[in-house]
Amino acid sequence: MSINTPEELEKLKAAGVIVRRMLEAMKKAVRPGVTTAELDETGAQVMREHGAQSAPQLVYKFPGVNCISVNDEAVHGIPGERVLQKGDLVKLDVTIEKDGFMADAAETVAVEEVADESQRLMACAERAFHKSMLVARAGYRVSEIGRAVEKEVRRAGFSVIRDLGGHGIGRTIHEAPRVPNFADPQANDILTEGLVITVEPIIAAGSGRILVAKDGWTVCTADRRPSAHYEHTLVITKGEPLLLTAA
Ligand code: CO
Repeated sequence: MSINTPEELEKLKAAGVIVRRMLEAMKKAVRPGVTTAELDETGAQVMREHGAQSAPQLVYKFPGVNCISVNDEAVHGIPGERVLQKGDLVKLDVTIEKDGFMADAAETVAVEEVADESQRLMACAERAFHKSMLVARAGYRVSEIGRAVEKEVRRAGFSVIRDLGGHGIGRTIHEAPRVPNFADPQANDILTEGLVITVEPIIAAGSGRILVAKDGWTVCTADRRPSAHYEHTLVITKGEPLLLTAA
């Protein structure tokens, strides 16, 4: 969506604050021995306290409140009985609806110490996000965001997962435009003031090719190498974008 009124901005900001609170609660709960279902419930409690709803559940009938993906799982992991272990790389992806507006953010968390490569991978996803903020501005083409993301990811020796990326958001989860993590020539829309999008580098240590698991939801790397994800919902302005899901 594109924001037209101050009321719309306030409601989107409120949705963003709830996403941030859920993420912080879940991050604090990450430790060896916890199940992904328990982590999901930690986030769900905060969500319910704020009178919000899970957007993936609402829009896609996702079988969980939050998407929780571990190691080679890139996105859309279903919370369940999986027990987290030291060395795991956990992706927490939170999207909620409040008063008809939606916000979406993701972070990657290490379970205690992780392998050096995993550490560099998660740092790279976050860095690529921030590099792209220089061109996530009114007047630039959407593809400039992907160009900036992929440049940083390649520089670190990693791959972007080309099949996954950011998107317009606001009234529902996935709106136009698509926001690829590479310089896709088809992403030639010009960013305009007030446009609400997610930017979300989803990257891998291996080839970046993916497959969908037997559960029909979880997207894994085909070569089983680890993946990292970093995402915010933001509003395009003439200058620095307004991050709705930041701390
Ligand atoms: Co998203």
